[in-house]
Amino acid sequence: MSSKLHDEVLARRTFAIISHPDAGKTTLTEKLLLFGGAIRDAGTVKAKKTGKFATSDWMEIEKQRGISVTSSVMQFDYQGNRVNILDTPGHQDFSEDTYRTLTAVDSAVMIIDSAKGIEAQTLKLFKVCRMRGIPIFTFINKLDRQGKNPLELLAELEEVLGIESYPMNWPIGMGKEFYGIYDRFYKRIEQFRANEEDRFISLNEQGEIDGEHPLKASSLYDQTLEEVLLLNEAGNEFSKEKIADGTLIPVFFGSALTNFGVQTFLETYLQFAPPPQPRHSTSGEIDPLSNEFSGFIFKIQANMNPAHRDRIAFLRICSGKFERGMSVNLARTGKQMKLAQSTQFMADDRSTVEEAVSGDIIGLYDPGLYQIGDTLTSGKESFQYDKLPQFTPELFVRVTAKNVMKQKHFHKGIQQLVQEGAIQLFKTVKSEEYLLGAVGQLQFEVFEHRMKNEYNVEVLMERVGNKIARWVENEQIDENLSSSRSLLVHDRYEKKVFLFENDFALRWFQEKNPNIKLYNPMDSADE
Ligand code: G4P
Repeated sequence: MSSKLHDEVLARRTFAIISHPDAGKTTLTEKLLLFGGAIRDAGTVKAKKTGKFATSDWMEIEKQRGISVTSSVMQFDYQGNRVNILDTPGHQDFSEDTYRTLTAVDSAVMIIDSAKGIEAQTLKLFKVCRMRGIPIFTFINKLDRQGKNPLELLAELEEVLGIESYPMNWPIGMGKEFYGIYDRFYKRIEQFRANEEDRFISLNEQGEIDGEHPLKASSLYDQTLEEVLLLNEAGNEFSKEKIADGTLIPVFFGSALTNFGVQTFLETYLQFAPPPQPRHSTSGEIDPLSNEFSGFIFKIQANMNPAHRDRIAFLRICSGKFERGMSVNLARTGKQMKLAQSTQFMADDRSTVEEAVSGDIIGLYDPGLYQIGDTLTSGKESFQYDKLPQFTPELFVRVTAKNVMKQKHFHKGIQQLVQEGAIQLFKTVKSEEYLLGAVGQLQFEVFEHRMKNEYNVEVLMERVGNKIARWVENEQIDENLSSSRSLLVHDRYEKKVFLFENDFALRWFQEKNPNIKLYNPMDSADE
């Protein structure tokens, strides 16, 4: 790899922002994009919630519901770094989409609402990041409001998440009394209510303000020095290595809405966040700096632009360089193809991408070729990156087209939405009825909405009581074992699956049929 390319790869920072809904993900993303010059007006991203205009969300339903359903990708340059932000839906019903997105990043930014602390969804997403060894940076938000005591927040972070933390800065007061942050890392105080020229007060070797300053007369100053002393003496030590391997979480305080502490966060984050990391494949670890191009598809989205009725496959480049028009090999089928139509993203603003390197995310026009998890390679030797996590659905519905004359559209719609990974499809073994499986109820609603709007088919969905899906290892299964309590179905790869009514039905079945080996694909991912 040429040294120029080498430097380009090392300048990439690809991350996802994760949080419980309402912690401030949209607001922070918007502020980061403003710093990067990727958008000009504040409110561009935010406006999605009012339904006026969407930058990071494409779909109508997102606007209607004010939630981010699909993940989008945003790119900008900042001080020599190229930043790729992958947005993730906060709503738990779409955790599947978020989990897949997390396979495509090198680090994650976790936002915590200072009044709420660690919330359910934050914890879930945190665990996934840990499982994948993704370093996490924390932004504790909304300091302009009264929140929990910062020492309590820190203790909660360490206790609930079970990981060491290092506060890079520390709040001086909060809410009405919020004065700013004591920056342990840059040895300065950043003032909340100050002109740009006066924003920073530098600190001396002892970490105090030299000379006269009005802040010194305030009890907040003494309290902050005491707390910082406590952190210095009893807290964890700063370690670049531990941050890089994900065993120490750097913590930043700020207020996304008032754009306070965001720039400091961004600049420090870029210093310590890892560049593109090696990824595991059937040929071992693949070095992001190697010459041969490779990448994998972590997301497919149809009809992002309803005017074009197209499908885009999102590819994370893991090594080498992408050049438009290049020939690649699709590992799953062994097929050679030319990557001629490729796009880069700034949400609904797309432009053709001619070149991209490890760490970048590009969109490939997809005529129906790709599946989630597909690997593309350019070298002589083809290989496959690790499989993406598959979710075990917990809700099932029987689905049919309301109007039997619309069968063709119905099948096309289902096929495309399933290939996107928006929902899982099963067919009953005996009667070949269609069942859909999802992690959350909202996924069904999105499915119904998209079938109507994008494929012009109204669907009927009827709830199936069965909740526990277990895949079958055995090749041969007596189809008569299928009953309403243990419904035998095929998944879309023709693998056999039993849908059990409840735990009791599962245990009873296993006792009666000890020779049938059942498994849950999520078990390995949960460890
Ligand atoms: P999300 O994407 O994580 O769901 O959160 P989002 O950014 O939409 O923020 C959720 C709410 O929290 C919004 O208020 C937003 O303005 C507010 N918020 C975000 N950052 C801060 C902050 O630093 N300080 C304060 N005080 N509030 C913050 P909302 O009333 O729900 O929406 P809106 O009326 O602003 O549209």
